Amino acid sequence: MKLAVLASGSGSNFQAIAEAIQKDKLNASIEVVISNKKDAGVFKKAAAFDIPTHHINPKDTSALLQILADYQVEAVILAGYLRKIPTELVAQFPNRILNIHPSLLPAFGGHGFYGQKVHEAVMASGVRWTGVTVHFVDAEYDTGAIILQEPVPVRQDDTVATLAARVLKKEHQIYPEAIQLLVENKLTIKNRKVFIQDKMPRGYGNKK
Ligand code: GRF
Repeated sequence: MKLAVLASGSGSNFQAIAEAIQKDKLNASIEVVISNKKDAGVFKKAAAFDIPTHHINPKDTSALLQILADYQVEAVILAGYLRKIPTELVAQFPNRILNIHPSLLPAFGGHGFYGQKVHEAVMASGVRWTGVTVHFVDAEYDTGAIILQEPVPVRQDDTVATLAARVLKKEHQIYPEAIQLLVENKLTIKNRKVFIQDKMPRGYGNKK
């Protein structure tokens, strides 16, 4: 499956996805990396994999759609992309846009919950568990149907930085797995619930 990765930041999730492809754990190719930030760290990482990059003005939806068409992109992977996805894009890629969020949605999600702010809010709330969510993208922030979630403990001696690092490590495991489920056409949505066909990743719904 031909993917585009949209990212605004350092691109460690991009890197995890690209490595999963190299190791044949993910049957896809990243055709293009797109960012709204000229100096996004993800551009350097993409260059190391010889993947073409494009800087876009996030308000220019037609330019974005043109790039996706030019590279014959089949699915769009958001990896720390900090802009809302235009409704035209959602319409053109129905159930073909994924996002990863560093909490157990719907907790600590929505507008304004990004990057460190998520982990700061988690720490301030006193919850014992946070985690990672991969979900389909609709026209709102963090509200699409949930594909995979994994919990991550909040430790007593955590700082925002140590918690963020633990969550990010989990993101790198779970995102390639979720994308592979999409590639294998194993995801069906009914009434906002995502059903995963046969092989469940790491114990999801498995009887033991
Ligand atoms: C990740 O925490 C992701 O969940 C969030 O943005 C961050 C991106 O990190 N959406 P990176 O650029 O992939 O390192």
